[in-house]
Amino acid sequence: MLYIDHGKGGAAEVMNLAEGPVPQAQAGEVVIEVNYAGVNRPDVLQRSGSYPPPPGASPVLGLEVAGRVHAVAPDVKQWKVGDLVCALTPGGGYAEYCAVPAAHCLPVPKGLSSQDAAALPENFYTVWTNVFDRGRLKAGETFLVHGGSSGIGLTAIQLAKAFGATVYTTVGNAEKAAFCRDIGADAAINYREQDFVAEVAQLTGNKGVDLILDMVGGPYIEKNLKSLALEGRLVQIAFLQGSKVALDVLPLMIKRLTFTGSTLRPRTVAQKAAIAQALQQQVWPLLESGKVKPVIHATFPLKDAKLAHELMESSKHIGKIMLEVKR
Ligand SMILES: NC(=O)c1ccc[n+]([C@@H]2O[C@H](COP(=O)([O-])OP(=O)(O)OC[C@H]3O[C@@H](n4cnc5c(N)ncnc54)[C@H](OP(=O)(O)O)[C@@H]3O)[C@@H](O)[C@H]2O)c1
Repeated sequence: MLYIDHGKGGAAEVMNLAEGPVPQAQAGEVVIEVNYAGVNRPDVLQRSGSYPPPPGASPVLGLEVAGRVHAVAPDVKQWKVGDLVCALTPGGGYAEYCAVPAAHCLPVPKGLSSQDAAALPENFYTVWTNVFDRGRLKAGETFLVHGGSSGIGLTAIQLAKAFGATVYTTVGNAEKAAFCRDIGADAAINYREQDFVAEVAQLTGNKGVDLILDMVGGPYIEKNLKSLALEGRLVQIAFLQGSKVALDVLPLMIKRLTFTGSTLRPRTVAQKAAIAQALQQQVWPLLESGKVKPVIHATFPLKDAKLAHELMESSKHIGKIMLEVKR
C-alpha cells in the first residue's frame, strides 16, 4: 500500500509517499481501507520529532480516518467487511489501509460524507473527554475555549452550546472571530487586540468562567487562573507557548479551582472505547440532525501531506485540514 513516510522527522519536506505492507488485523482490530484521513496538530509535532508515538503504535502519522472495513479479526463481532466507518486510530492514518481497535470505530453519521466523518474522531473524542468528563461542563455554565478556530476549538464551541453552556473563545484575527460567532460562540475575543482577562471579567460581571479549555499554556496559565470563577476548572490539552512557567497559584486555593489536563493518545483501548460509546449515544444524534457539524477548511491528496502540514503550521486555516486517500 501507499503511505506517507516521514523518515527520521523534521520539517514538512521530510514527508514522502512510500510503499509498504498492508497491516493485518490483530485480535480486536479491523483494517480500514481509507477514503480520507484528518490532519491534526499532534501529527505536526510527531513529524517534527517532538511527540513520539506510544509504544506499540504504528510509526506512521495519522490519528483519524474514514473508509470501508477491509478485514476483521476473528474475535470482532460488531463490524463486517464493507461497513462504512470512521475511527480514532493509534497511528497509521496517512495510508491506504489502517488497523484500528474495532471498539474505536463509529458508524458514519447519517447524512454525512466519508470526508466529513474522517474529520470527527480526534476532535470529538478529545473534546468529549476533556470538556464533559474531566471538565464536568453543565448546562447553564460559562465556558472559555482558547484557539476557537482550530479543529478542536470549533468542536468545543458547538458541543458546549448544544449542551446549554454560554461559550466565549479567543482567536488570532477578525475573520476567525466572525466565524466562531457564526457557529455559536456568544463572544469571540481577538487576543492580538484585546486582553482576554479583562474581556472575560466584563462578559461575566467579574464572576469569571466555570471552565477553560486551553491549548496555549505559557503566559496563559496565570491569566486563566485569574479568569476562573469560584470552583472553576482549567483543562490543559496542549502547551503551544510552553509548559514551564513561574506563576502565582494562590487563586487555586482562594477560588477552590481544579487545574488538570490529559492527552488522548496514551489512554487505554477500554478508556477510548468508553468515549466512543458516549459519543455515539450523545453526540451522533446532534451530527445527524445537523445541530453540530464538522468544519472542513481544505483537502489535499495524500501525496501532498507536506502542503497540508505547512497550512496547519501557518495557522491560516479555520477548521479541519484533510487528506484524500481514495475517494
Ligand atoms: N491533549 C489531547 O488529547 C489533544 C488531542 C488533539 C489535539 N490537541 C491539541 O489541541 C490543539 C488544537 O489541535 P488542532 O488539531 O485543532 O490544531 P489547529 O487546528 O492547528 O489549531 C491550533 C490553533 O492554535 C492557535 N495557535 C497556534 N500556535 C499558537 C501559539 N503559539 N500561541 C497561541 N495560539 C496558537 C491557532 O489559532 P490562532 O490563529 O487563533 O492563534 C491555531 O488555529 C493543538 O495544540 C493540539 O496539539 C490535544
